[in-house]
Amino acid sequence: MDDLAIARAIHVLAIVHWIGGVTLVTAVLLPAIARLSEPSRRLAIFEEIEGRLSRQAKVSVTLAGLSGVYMTYRLEAWDRFADPQFWWMPAMVLIWTIFTFVLFVGEPLFLQAWFRRRAAQDATGTFAMVRRAHWVLLTLSAGTIAGAVLGSHGTAWPF
Ligand code: HEM
Repeated sequence: MDDLAIARAIHVLAIVHWIGGVTLVTAVLLPAIARLSEPSRRLAIFEEIEGRLSRQAKVSVTLAGLSGVYMTYRLEAWDRFADPQFWWMPAMVLIWTIFTFVLFVGEPLFLQAWFRRRAAQDATGTFAMVRRAHWVLLTLSAGTIAGAVLGSHGTAWPF
């Protein structure tokens, strides 16, 4: 087994853990919370679940980024970032940047406080916004994963 294969395995495992967690929260837990709990309690339950996920996701997002940069270096694939056929390369970096910003900068510095202030005024609207944001990120991530798997195994899609 070579170093590139090991980096690829780390990359895929990290993505499975991280985007799998986002899928569970978006498609299973948030709808269940919406059905089962009072509007005023929803955000607190969400914060409890997301807090645990985000502690773990900090590790998987970091591993995905390091292994991704290593593969780009080993494959000498930097010029792909300028080639529209490899749209999924900048898409991966974009998804990674959004989550890294939210996990390491946004949440600890201002996002959590902003959510709490907004939820105190409009609990239902804030929870609906959280659900929408999760669906948007999950959809972008799923499209990027499909593009990356197809593209890195020789099928340029959709071009
Ligand atoms: C800094 C961020 C990232 C960089 C630099 C990066 C880079 C790479 C590179 C170089 C490859 C190998 C391409 C090839 O073999 O031709 C790859 C594969 C892949 N990446 Fe990323 N990536 C990053 C983040 C992500 C993210 C956020 C996702 C998911 C949303 C993702 C999903 C994948 C998938 C599914 C593969 C294909 C694995 C396979 O089937 O062999 N990557 N990435």
